[in-house]
Amino acid sequence: MIADTAIVFPGTIVPDDCTILDYAVVGKQPTLSARSTAKQEEVPPLELGPGTVVSIGAVVFAGTRLGARVIVGDQACVRERCDIGDDVVVGRGSLIENDTTVGARTKIQAMAYVTAYATLEEDVFIAPCVQTSNDNFMGRTERRHELRKGPTVRRGARVGVGAVLCPAVEIGEEAFVGAGAVVVKDVPPRVVVVGNPARILRDVSPGELLSASERA
Ligand SMILES: CC(C)(COP(=O)(O)OP(=O)(O)OC[C@H]1O[C@@H](n2cnc3c(N)ncnc32)[C@H](O)[C@@H]1OP(=O)(O)O)[C@@H](O)C(=O)NCCC(=O)NCCS
Repeated sequence: MIADTAIVFPGTIVPDDCTILDYAVVGKQPTLSARSTAKQEEVPPLELGPGTVVSIGAVVFAGTRLGARVIVGDQACVRERCDIGDDVVVGRGSLIENDTTVGARTKIQAMAYVTAYATLEEDVFIAPCVQTSNDNFMGRTERRHELRKGPTVRRGARVGVGAVLCPAVEIGEEAFVGAGAVVVKDVPPRVVVVGNPARILRDVSPGELLSASERA
């Protein structure tokens, strides 16, 4: 179902069982400033997976692939050259910037900001208003081009509400970042970190590990 008010750019691959709601825009080419550091190129058409839903007012760019049964929430945005796995949820008002990969079943809750060149693996949980970053030089010096990298959030990791992930940090498998933490260095697998700068508080309870819920 494609709402009358939705805009679907030519070439966009939309399987029959997709839902595109009012005022959504799917398959738009990026419009970059002449000074943008993102690649200036025409990108291939957007590809939506079967059963995908693009909700009211959401914008999904060309050059991206959404897997099966993805839900892009109201007013959320997914930019160009992203690869979004099956069953991913992009919460209301969230922004996934260009060249980012999101693994299957990952949940990104409302108003999260996922920076360009980030990797979120499978079964990751990103709480509301999480912020991520990719440039320690904030647009100055040539080094910013060499070192530009968003965070890598490994399989099953969870990032709490309002947490901040600094450029290139790695959040280990099944790690847990507490609410409001500022993560400035890598977090080992299966530990809880809290505070600014984030420090290890304890191990994740075994009952919360994915392997435990998969067993249950
Ligand atoms: C980390 C968390 C799970 C609590 O874990 P816990 O083991 O029960 O921790 P406790 O409440 O016993 O606190 C232990 C210590 O860590 C501190 N602490 C706990 N959470 C903290 C946080 N988010 N930031 C800073 N310090 C924190 C406590 O103040 C306490 O410090 P103290 O020993 O000096 O008194 C919880 O605080 C949290 O951050 N939850 C995330 C919720 C969230 O974002 N959910 C997203 C979906 S809505």
